Amino acid sequence: MATILETRGIEYAYADGTRALSNVSLTIEEGRKIALVGPNGAGKSTLMLMFNGILRPDAGEVLFRNERLDYDSRSLRKVRQRVGMVFQNSDDQLFAPTVYQDVAFGPVNLSFPPEKVKRYVGYALQYVGLSGYERRPP
Ligand SMILES: Nc1ncnc2c1ncn2[C@@H]1O[C@H](COP(=O)(O)OP(=O)(O)OP(=O)(O)O)[C@@H](O)[C@H]1O
Ligand SMILES: [Mg+2]
Repeated sequence: MATILETRGIEYAYADGTRALSNVSLTIEEGRKIALVGPNGAGKSTLMLMFNGILRPDAGEVLFRNERLDYDSRSLRKVRQRVGMVFQNSDDQLFAPTVYQDVAFGPVNLSFPPEKVKRYVGYALQYVGLSGYERRPP
């Protein structure tokens, strides 16, 4: 089976010196559903944030489809079109005043034309059974 995500010997410490990841190597194959389990503070979220370059390891490397992540803006933009992220805290994820604007945030930032944005928002909402909630107030 094809490898979709891989890390090799990742090390990471936050700015305050907290060592969050130490020598983490893993391989995730295409089509698998993986649960990453561990106690609070084990480093699960930190590791996830490596997968599309939100965090950059101090040492080691991250690969998406066997290609090493680069951290220039063009490479990051490319990988982020393929590797999506749902943040642990929903307030970090949902911030627009309407459902439509929230779902449109990604496509708008990819510079899709308005018609395409509309179409993709339509697909996404239909996919999760939320069609009709586009502009409904809270
Ligand atoms: N922004 C930050 N600054 C400093 N230390 C941090 C920061 N975020 C996380 N940490 C620390 O890094 C370590 C790993 O945290 P992380 O959030 O990755 O764990 P987690 O496995 O996702 O935990 P949880 O189950 O609570 O979500 C912990 O010691 C945590 O306190
Ligand atoms: Mg977490």
